[in-house]
Amino acid sequence: MNFENRCILVTGGASGIGLSITQKVATLGGQVALADQNEDGVRAAADALRNAGHSAMPITADVSNPGDVEKMFNAVSEFRGRLDGLAHCAGIGVEKTILETSLEDWDRIIGINLTGTFLCSKTAAETMAPQGYGRILLMGSAAGERGGTGRSAYGASKGGVHALTRTLATELAELGITVNAMAPGAIETALVKKMHDAETREAYCARIAANRYGSPAEVANVAAFLLSAESAYVNGVVMPIDGGFMSSGVIKRGMNPRR
Ligand SMILES: NC(=O)c1ccc[n+]([C@@H]2O[C@H](COP(=O)([O-])OP(=O)(O)OC[C@H]3O[C@@H](n4cnc5c(N)ncnc54)[C@H](O)[C@@H]3O)[C@@H](O)[C@H]2O)c1
Repeated sequence: MNFENRCILVTGGASGIGLSITQKVATLGGQVALADQNEDGVRAAADALRNAGHSAMPITADVSNPGDVEKMFNAVSEFRGRLDGLAHCAGIGVEKTILETSLEDWDRIIGINLTGTFLCSKTAAETMAPQGYGRILLMGSAAGERGGTGRSAYGASKGGVHALTRTLATELAELGITVNAMAPGAIETALVKKMHDAETREAYCARIAANRYGSPAEVANVAAFLLSAESAYVNGVVMPIDGGFMSSGVIKRGMNPRR
C-alpha cells in the first residue's frame, strides 16, 4: 500500500483507533489531516507525526456540528488541495440499558455517532466527487450487528452507520468513491479502559475466539487497506475486526491437542 501524495482526513485522530490510523497512514507516506474536538490532543498528535518527519495538520472540530464540519473540510482542501480518503473515527460510547437511557442520552449518542457520520460522509462525498476518486471509511461496531446489554442507543447509532455505509456505497460507486465500515469488537483504547470493568472484560473474552481484546494498531492495519487505492473492488462492506466475536457461538477452550 502506497499513500504517497494521498491526503487522508482522520476524525477522532487524537486518541485510540483514530490516532493509530493516522500513524499507520503517515508511516505509509500519506499526508494526514487529524480532526478532533480535543484541541490539545489533536495538536499533540500532529506535532508527534511532524517531529517524526511526516506531513500532518491538526483541526479542532466537533463532528456533530455542521459549521465545524464545513470548516474542517475547507481546512483539508487548503492543506493539500484534495482529499483521497476519510477515516471517520470520532465517536462516543455509553453503556446504559433502555430503562436507564434518557432522551438526552439518546440524542447525544445519535447526534455524534450517526448524525456526525452523515455530515462527514456527505461532505467527503461532495469533496471527492469532482476528483472522481475517494475512499470513505466509517466507524461501525459489533454492537451495530449484535444485541448486547447496555447497548440500546450505542447499538442503534452503529446499526445506522452500517445501513448508511451500504447505501452510500451503492450511490457513490459511479463517482469512483468506495464506502466501507469497520466493525471492531473489543479494542483496548481509552474509551474501553473507561467503560469495561473486570466483569465486562470476562463476558467479552468468553465470546471472542481469540480470547483477548484487539489493539488499535490491529484495526489500523485493516483501515489502511480500505483507505488505499488497492481496495478498489471492496465496496459496501461492514468489516468485522473482532478476533472472531461475530463468527462464534459456543466456545470451548483447550480442545486442540497440545503440540
Ligand atoms: N474501542 C472499541 O472497542 C471500539 C469498538 C467498536 C467501535 N469503536 C468505535 O471506534 C471509534 C473510536 O473509538 P476509540 O475506542 O478509539 O475511542 P477514543 O475515546 O480513544 O477516541 C475517540 C476520539 O473521538 C473524539 N471525539 C468524540 N466525540 C467527538 C466529536 N463530537 N467531534 C470530534 N471528535 C470527537 C474524542 O475526543 C477521541 O479523541 C468510536 O466511534 C467507537 O464507537 C470502538
